[in-house]
Parts: sequence; C-alpha cells; structure tokens
Amino acid sequence: MSEKKKIQEAIDDLTLALLYLTRFQDREGSQFNEIAWKGYDFDALERLDAAELIMDLKNRRGGSYKYAYMTEKGRNKAREILGELNIEDQELYERFEFRTIKPEEADEAADIEQACFPANEACTRENMKDRIQAAADLFLVAMDRKTGKMAGFLNGIATNENSFRDEFFTDAATHDPQGRNIMLLGLDVLPEYREQGLAKELVYCYCRREQERSRNRLVLTCHEEKVAMYNKFGFRDLGQSVSQWGGVSWHEMEIML
Ligand SMILES: CC(C)(COP(=O)(O)OP(=O)(O)OC[C@H]1O[C@@H](n2cnc3c(N)ncnc32)[C@H](O)[C@@H]1OP(=O)(O)O)[C@@H](O)C(=O)NCCC(=O)NCCS
Repeated sequence: MSEKKKIQEAIDDLTLALLYLTRFQDREGSQFNEIAWKGYDFDALERLDAAELIMDLKNRRGGSYKYAYMTEKGRNKAREILGELNIEDQELYERFEFRTIKPEEADEAADIEQACFPANEACTRENMKDRIQAAADLFLVAMDRKTGKMAGFLNGIATNENSFRDEFFTDAATHDPQGRNIMLLGLDVLPEYREQGLAKELVYCYCRREQERSRNRLVLTCHEEKVAMYNKFGFRDLGQSVSQWGGVSWHEMEIML
C-alpha cells in the first residue's frame, strides 16, 4: 500500500473512532439513533459515508446537516479500531456481543424464556425452534463474552399487518420476511444481568438495525407495569390490545423507525 493510501486510511479510521467516541443520542428525533457532529475532514466523511460506516443525510434542499448518524457497521468498525488502540469501549459492548441467534442456541433461548415469563406467557421450546428457523435474523442476542452464555435477547417477526394477534406467538409461518412492521415477541434478560442497561441496549440496537433494513415500525404488547419502561425507550401506548395471550389483557405499544 502506498504511503499516501496508508495515511488516508489512518485519517478515515481515526475520524470514525472520534465520531464514535463523541456520539450522543438523538432525543428530538428517534431516541435510539446516535448522531455525532461532523467537524472533520470533508473527504474523510465522504469516504466513510460511501463505505456505509456513517449516514450523512441530506436535507430537503439537498444540503448537508452538521451531524451524521452512525450505522451498525460503523459502530462495529469503530469498536475494532478502538480495541487496536487499547481504548476502552462502552462497558456493555466490551462485556457482550450483540448478534443474531444461531439454530443451535434455540434451547438456551427457550430456557431463558422459561426463566423470564410465567408458563402461560412463555414461548414453548418447540415454538422457539420454529421461530428461529423462520426468522433467526429477527433475533438479537446479547452473549456474555466471558462465559459464552446468552444473557438476554429480543425477538420478533416481520409482517405487513398493523396490529398484534396471538398467532404471531405460535405460528412462525405468519412471518413475512418482506414485512414492513415488526411484531416483537419477547424481551428477556436473565435475572443476574438485570438493571445494567442491557434491555435498553437490546431495544435500541434492534431499532437501529431494523431502521437500516427499512422497516416502518415495531409493535409489542406488555403488561400495565411495563408501559413506563417502554415509554422510556420511546414507545407509544396504543391502549388495550386485542391480544388475549396467556388468558390475560395487554397494552399494545409502537415505535416508529
Ligand atoms: C423487563 C426486563 C427486560 C428489563 O431488563 P433490564 O436489563 O433489567 O432493563 P434495563 O436495565 O435496560 O432498564 C432500562 C430502564 O427500564 C427500567 N425498568 C427495568 N425493568 C423494569 C420493570 N420491570 N418495570 C419498570 N421499569 C423497568 C429501568 O429502571 C431502566 O430505567 P432508567 O434507564 O431510567 O434507569 C427484565 O427485567 C426481564 O427480562 N424481565 C422478565 C421478562 C419481561 O418482563 N420482559 C418484558 C416483557 S413485555
């Protein structure tokens, strides 16, 4: 590689690392999005945009904003660069790997589901296997890097339907890979990993990933006592759902991507 090319790569890597380290949550728009001010070399920013490491959105008049969004690809690359520089990353990402699920992890996910939900609400082992077979890419798992154990996960299926129905829980054939909406089927964090921000990161990471896949909205059902938690994550309460899952009543909530 020529000396000039090497320097250009170093500029791009360091710019991306700085964007990552100075990123913050976009509270006015969608709060799961992370943005960073673009006060860096324009050519480097253009190259990062072309490589889909950042999203340099244009405004309605074709002009640029003063900030750019980080993409999931950009976040991962930035963490790699920082690792090489021995710079500590956000604690959660150091402790956990966030990724889709593997078919051989179905039993582990089913065990977590049993630990997190009462029997009338939990997804059965069989349904979990079907769901993973049909829609593994709609799982997001957090793997403890130290133990290799699954600490928690969020999963859903895609559909063009707009509201929740109980068959989404039991019939993996309701999954339509091209669906614009995601029906969330479970947010699970094992007790020993709770109250450390893991559920919030799973939800935000999921929102960003599905936004990049051009989905419209995420829909979920939850009990009254969880409405405040999902409100904090940016979800809107739509009132009582038609879902009677587990023989109880549910709130339906949504977030636009
Ligand atoms: C609910 C659950 C996913 C939360 O996981 P967690 O990793 O402990 O949550 P986080 O640490 O990310 O908490 C994020 C925020 O939600 C709030 N929160 C967490 N659990 C809550 C609960 N049970 N009720 C109300 N608010 C809650 C936290 O206080 C925190 O708020 P903060 O950001 O202002 O501090 C976890 O307790 C769990 O798996 N429970 C059993 C399964 C379940 O109920 N899932 C949700 C089904 S709809």
